[in-house]
Amino acid sequence: MKGIILAGGHGTRLQPLTLVQSKQLLPVYDKPMIYYPLSTLMLAGIREVLLIATPEARPSFEALLGDGTQWGMQFAYAEQAEPRGLAEAFLLGRDFIGDEPVCLILGDNLFYGSGLPAQLQSAAQLTRGAHVFAYPVRDPERYGVIELGDDGQPVSIEEKPAAPRSHYAVAGLYFYGPDVVAVAETLTPSGRGELEITDVNRVYLDRGELAVTVLGRGVAWLDAGTHESLLEAAQFVRSVQARQGLMIACPEELAYRKGFISAAQMDQLAQQLGDNDYSRYLRALVASE
Ligand code: G1P
Repeated sequence: MKGIILAGGHGTRLQPLTLVQSKQLLPVYDKPMIYYPLSTLMLAGIREVLLIATPEARPSFEALLGDGTQWGMQFAYAEQAEPRGLAEAFLLGRDFIGDEPVCLILGDNLFYGSGLPAQLQSAAQLTRGAHVFAYPVRDPERYGVIELGDDGQPVSIEEKPAAPRSHYAVAGLYFYGPDVVAVAETLTPSGRGELEITDVNRVYLDRGELAVTVLGRGVAWLDAGTHESLLEAAQFVRSVQARQGLMIACPEELAYRKGFISAAQMDQLAQQLGDNDYSRYLRALVASE
């Protein structure tokens, strides 16, 4: 399973924060936003990741993340010049995907919760069809909305419906078989001029190949696309980390715990970061083993 992080867009709702800086590089408390979706992919066991950014922001992402070897990962980069929709990720990532299944995660989506690592690892076993995650929200009209039957099977899926048929938003985390590229090729732009991920999911729904997992109240799904939600996400991360003394979305820790890097490599990463809370956390992890 390969991974794609879509970190394009102009971050219009966050201006002036995003006038010269990509939204997905803004801080969510103590880390760049991109660390959060990246960690979600790492939790799923995905090690080959394509990062799609705007041409302007791509050099910054490359400077921050490099080729991934420092974390036992492999990163590639692609550019999305205009926000032409989430589903364009599969066209831009056609060569990267090849004939493997792929997981797409949105660069401003933050997932956290008990049980999530197991759910991610299980979803990453997918070889065909599609698997999406439904999450109850108060304002479903802002999202892709999925309606589930009594048996938990999906019945309908709509993008930002004026009259939502359920309270279940489709979260920005999607798993597909390799044929997702062919599905994306059949799409035409929606009313807002985008290739919609919801249209991709509807193809799988119509084929009877759309699996849905409902994320319950034990899981937090946050996006950080507005000033309010960005601050809320930061406060959430700060509260949990301060209480537990454990970091959310620390790629170095994940790489170490998953055995992608050795203790010596982890120590070296800590050294490169200088003396601060983050590097002390990394050092303490190695020392406690
Ligand atoms: C996009 C998708 C929508 C999904 C949401 C999750 O919305 O189109 O289906 O529920 O991400 O964050 P957008 O960010 O384009 O408004």
